[in-house]
Amino acid sequence: MSSPKIHSKLPSVGTTIFTVMSGLANQYNAINLGQGFPDYQMNEELMKKVTEVMQKGWNQYVPMQGYMPLRESIAEKIEFLYQTKINPDTQITITPGGTYAIYTALTTILQPGDEVIIFEPGYDSYIPNVEINGAVPVLIDLKFPDYKIDWNEVRKKITPKTRVIMLNSPHNPTGAVLMEEDIRELRNIVKNTNIFIVSDEVYEHLIFDNIPHQSILRHPDLSERSFVCFSFGKTYNCTGWKLGYCISSPESMIEFRKVHQFNCFCCHTPSQVALAGFLKNKEAYLSLSGIMQQKRDHFIELMKQTKFDLLNSSGSYFICGKYDRISEEADKDFAIRVTKEFGVATIPVSVFYKAGTDNKVIRFCFSKKKETLETAVERLTKI
Ligand SMILES: Cc1ncc(COP(=O)(O)O)c(C=O)c1O
Repeated sequence: MSSPKIHSKLPSVGTTIFTVMSGLANQYNAINLGQGFPDYQMNEELMKKVTEVMQKGWNQYVPMQGYMPLRESIAEKIEFLYQTKINPDTQITITPGGTYAIYTALTTILQPGDEVIIFEPGYDSYIPNVEINGAVPVLIDLKFPDYKIDWNEVRKKITPKTRVIMLNSPHNPTGAVLMEEDIRELRNIVKNTNIFIVSDEVYEHLIFDNIPHQSILRHPDLSERSFVCFSFGKTYNCTGWKLGYCISSPESMIEFRKVHQFNCFCCHTPSQVALAGFLKNKEAYLSLSGIMQQKRDHFIELMKQTKFDLLNSSGSYFICGKYDRISEEADKDFAIRVTKEFGVATIPVSVFYKAGTDNKVIRFCFSKKKETLETAVERLTKI
């Protein structure tokens, strides 16, 4: 008897470069500047709180929308940061991470044949999330080398089928951020249309040089047509917790919750209970951009000893570097060789383009201990 065969919903998805590079990093004992997470411990107090609440018995299901005191703390925080009143009961849902929030938002909105504007390079989950819903990604390149959005190009690509514009600021992999003029352009484009915005703001607190984060939540006319997605993992150095949340209008949130409640239902209880109190500590999230900016600046300074030319990074914990003074190799080959021969793993930026556009740029993650960055750069100077 032959076993049943699956007709793949994502036939073109294979093993990602992240798995490949991390495997190589382990095999060659390389320093991993590829993976997007810190190599230092998360906040001690928050760890203690989770343990405490578990011991107190917070180990059963919370409501499907999320633990209410946490949603209330989020609403307070949003009002403090972005001067917007959000109803914690009807507009916030706690999710198992930012990626899940994005997937659920897209699944909530999309019907087969709908078009979604996605900028490239971009976070790798967006295109499969659109395709699995039978919708069509409409890809637009960010302008190299500053990776700004070409809004004229966006205007040209809008059709009656356009249903979503996908945004990500601060941006992975480039560190580009949206500015006020981008918001103005976006506003003009979506006014009087049926277009939703899905805004990936997982790096909201990782923004440098005193640039204000242009959260969509600052702009009521835009937020009423948006799903805005956040991640506690990125804010509190605990990416393995996979906890985040989504904010939308009450009407849209009703539909979002229909999808969510039959997928995950509710998220990890002890983390939610601990975070409900911890979110009130403003210093814990406000200090983050300063800490990360120092790491960025230290990395930029160190990298001056190498033949890489770093591009600008105004946010996230990533910075891209050109290597055309070193080699003409394709970026994947170059990144693999640097891992094997010099012991530093990075990510080739072509993997963030569906067509594999290769500008001879690799991505470094600088959310690492000072010693990690220094040892890595010492190795990179030998290239
Ligand atoms: C742009 C972007 N969005 C979302 C995520 C994922 O967030 P989470 O781990 O909370 O799912 C990442 C993580 O790398 C990211 O870079």
